[in-house]
Amino acid sequence: MSRKRRPLRGKRVLITGAGSGLGRRLAHEVSARGAHVVVWDLSADAAAATCAQLDGAGGTSEYAVVDVSNEDAVVAAAEHAGVVDVLINNAGIVTGSPLLETPSGSIRRTFDVNVLALYWTTRAVLPGMLGRRRGVIVNIASAAGLVGVAKQTDYSASKFAVVGFTESLRSELRGMRRSGVSTMLVCPYYINTGMFDGVTTKFPRLLPILDNDDVARGVIDRLEAGTELYVTPPLARVVPAARILPSCAFDRLMDFFGINRTMAAFRGRGGR
Ligand SMILES: NC(=O)c1ccc[n+]([C@@H]2O[C@H](COP(=O)([O-])OP(=O)(O)OC[C@H]3O[C@@H](n4cnc5c(N)ncnc54)[C@H](O)[C@@H]3O)[C@@H](O)[C@H]2O)c1
Repeated sequence: MSRKRRPLRGKRVLITGAGSGLGRRLAHEVSARGAHVVVWDLSADAAAATCAQLDGAGGTSEYAVVDVSNEDAVVAAAEHAGVVDVLINNAGIVTGSPLLETPSGSIRRTFDVNVLALYWTTRAVLPGMLGRRRGVIVNIASAAGLVGVAKQTDYSASKFAVVGFTESLRSELRGMRRSGVSTMLVCPYYINTGMFDGVTTKFPRLLPILDNDDVARGVIDRLEAGTELYVTPPLARVVPAARILPSCAFDRLMDFFGINRTMAAFRGRGGR
């Protein structure tokens, strides 16, 4: 199957949660390739700092303070943003506690930010993309969207939902004649942004804690190349294939790789 390239030069790219972490690095990569960046974040200071960095490096950008879990706020901010050629749904949160120790409000918030927000942002920009017959919806899921991880009942489930959302949307778009709109699903293992501070990995060569700059570059390289699914590191790509095993053997395989011990010393950003 031939892939259609998706060059970013001259495009307008909206990135949610671009005030820090992966979102900010994605913004730098996108800007360096000649796109105008629209930064959305909860934090005005963080969003403004991202834009100052981009503009200082010769790019162009703008920001808005948007809680992506608030549908009305998303609709208003999308109207203000104007044309969006690429939407990167990156904002996300994690709780990181066992099911019975996770407050109900944290579970709801995880689904509001990691899942429902994708409905609001995508529905806000998709009509314009379809009208122009061009656009890309990029969803940052996680390797935790391919395998359920201990102490992540809300987070893993929310990322499984991102995988399903993206696959369903891809099918809908494929069913339209020449929609011109494509999707990209990103499933990285842990990244050194601070969101998952304290996590450990049993086989650092096979399953390393990923470097934020490398992940951002990898995502944007593949976005431009027309890739629709990016799972990193390569070993994580065996997870869907391993589903052919009976569940007890699948569980043993995941335990062998230490997946369910990774969160034992999780601290995250704390206080959420
Ligand atoms: N860090 C990892 O190990 C890792 C691994 C796989 C996938 N991911 C995913 O990558 C994405 C980025 O993660 P990160 O590590 O950069 O996290 P981060 O905590 O460093 O950054 C998240 C950003 O999103 C913003 N944000 C949070 N809630 C928001 C809301 N309601 N509205 C708008 N902005 C909001 C925060 O202010 C912050 O700037 C997330 O979707 C995360 O689930 C992260």
